[in-house]
Amino acid sequence: MRHLLTGFEFSQEEYLDILDTAAAMKKDPRKYSKVLEGRSGAIMFEKPSLRTRTTFELAFYRLGGHGIYLDLQNGDLGKRETIADYARNLSRWVDCLVGRVYAQSTLEELAKYGSVPVINALSDLYHPAQAMADYLTVREHLGKLAGVKLCYMGDGNNVTNSLLVAGGILGVNVECCVPEGCGPDVQIFDRANELAKTHGAVLRVFNDPSKVKDVDVLYTDTWVSMGDNTPLDRVRKKYMPYQINDALLEQSGASLVLHCLPAHRNYEITDEVMDGPKSVVFDEAENRLHIHMSVLSKLVENN
Ligand code: CP
Repeated sequence: MRHLLTGFEFSQEEYLDILDTAAAMKKDPRKYSKVLEGRSGAIMFEKPSLRTRTTFELAFYRLGGHGIYLDLQNGDLGKRETIADYARNLSRWVDCLVGRVYAQSTLEELAKYGSVPVINALSDLYHPAQAMADYLTVREHLGKLAGVKLCYMGDGNNVTNSLLVAGGILGVNVECCVPEGCGPDVQIFDRANELAKTHGAVLRVFNDPSKVKDVDVLYTDTWVSMGDNTPLDRVRKKYMPYQINDALLEQSGASLVLHCLPAHRNYEITDEVMDGPKSVVFDEAENRLHIHMSVLSKLVENN
């Protein structure tokens, strides 16, 4: 049984296969319209979503399967019945569980007690399918991944962790320029760094935005993660030096700008950059669909 819980589950060869399959599906989606014929999945979300929910539902549809959205935003998961029983029930009906959850442990429990693949659609620690779509987008625009330098600006979060994991495996040099004490998860960084070394890549974390130089890709995300109700203006002073604006873009030398979205315009990224010629944020959003089709086909088709 293969799951996508953290992104550490796959080798570089498997990552490249997922990216290649996504690219092929993007080019000719009709060719894959029966891949999941008769198969289904539960799409369980404890948190809001535009991109991830829409693209997972569409991915099932485009592959000939059926995705059933289960709204868990009322906090029901684990309350009405145990997470283990939830997984045991769903496994009798559907072929896959897609979960956006508050705690990574929820996904681990679904995988432990269920008998179908579990796909992480964002947790407190990881957003692995997002990172796959991000690197697909980078490869489309730069023609390669190995040796590319991506610099993440702002708050080290689940997206940052997944960019490090997937980047390390794919041979991408990933830098995180973050305020002191706001870095990615240390254990995840260390594990990703070990993998990066074997693939000839360098991962690093630093605090000084004036050192952001010779970069190929700039990346940012919200300064306040989903579920944290801190007003953005309260953290503005701390994070503003990390904003992606025209000055930082020029200093960095980057030719591409990514943001996983939703964006808080003129906080972590300015309108000028987000709407400018180097921004590929909507290509990136589109690629969520193609990556989800690819991941579903790999995990569900052969299960
Ligand atoms: N990037 C991302 O996961 O978007 P949603 O929260 O809208 O799904």
